[in-house]
Amino acid sequence: MDIQLATRPMQPDDEERLHRLWPRLSPDTVYRRFHSPIRGLPDETVHHLVDVDHDRREAVVATVGDEVVGVARYDRSPADPSVAEVAVLVEDAWQGVGLGRQLVTTLADLARRRGVRTVTATVQADNDRMVWLIRRLFPGSTMTVDSAVYEIRSPLTGPSAGTPEPPATAGATALLSRWG
Ligand SMILES: CC(C)(COP(=O)(O)OP(=O)(O)OC[C@H]1O[C@@H](n2cnc3c(N)ncnc32)[C@H](O)[C@@H]1OP(=O)(O)O)[C@@H](O)C(=O)NCCC(=O)NCCS
Repeated sequence: MDIQLATRPMQPDDEERLHRLWPRLSPDTVYRRFHSPIRGLPDETVHHLVDVDHDRREAVVATVGDEVVGVARYDRSPADPSVAEVAVLVEDAWQGVGLGRQLVTTLADLARRRGVRTVTATVQADNDRMVWLIRRLFPGSTMTVDSAVYEIRSPLTGPSAGTPEPPATAGATALLSRWG
């Protein structure tokens, strides 16, 4: 079955979509993304997640129909804006079909054009899918293990800062094949 998938930057009215996404996430997915067993999602947390300025903080969402099914985000370090921490989450029912790779690729492209030179991520050491994704997309990564968690750091190479980027509202669509 081919599914129309769109990726686009986060927009203010995504708050409601994130509230609807939350109950569709398994405890394992929540734990791997936030590194703690969060039960409810407070309004102020959702507000913070949606509140991006498309430079210092960015988030890209994957949508199917009108629903958000995945989010990748970066937050630049206030101390060194050339360094950005990256995190990503894909709804359980959509994991393993390439969404995570597409989201992180799109996000890294935006970050690179804005002058980010290093990405960091915190990933549980047994999170094979995320570790694989990082190794594929960021082959120069170093992974330091501490208490069963990888602290990942990678140079972000590619087109130089200032390369024109799509408008903040622009999105991309792709067809994904999904089984089941
Ligand atoms: C980690 C996560 C974002 C990956 O997204 P995804 O859409 O499921 O991943 P993709 O389908 O894009 O696959 C990514 C890679 O992992 C590989 N992969 C798939 N299943 C795998 C498995 N069980 N073990 C190892 N690698 C696997 C895929 O082949 C793909 O590699 P490729 O690009 O060479 O084909 C998603 O699974 C998720 O949301 N997990 C919970 C939250 C989380 O762990 N976030 C990361 C911490 S910030």
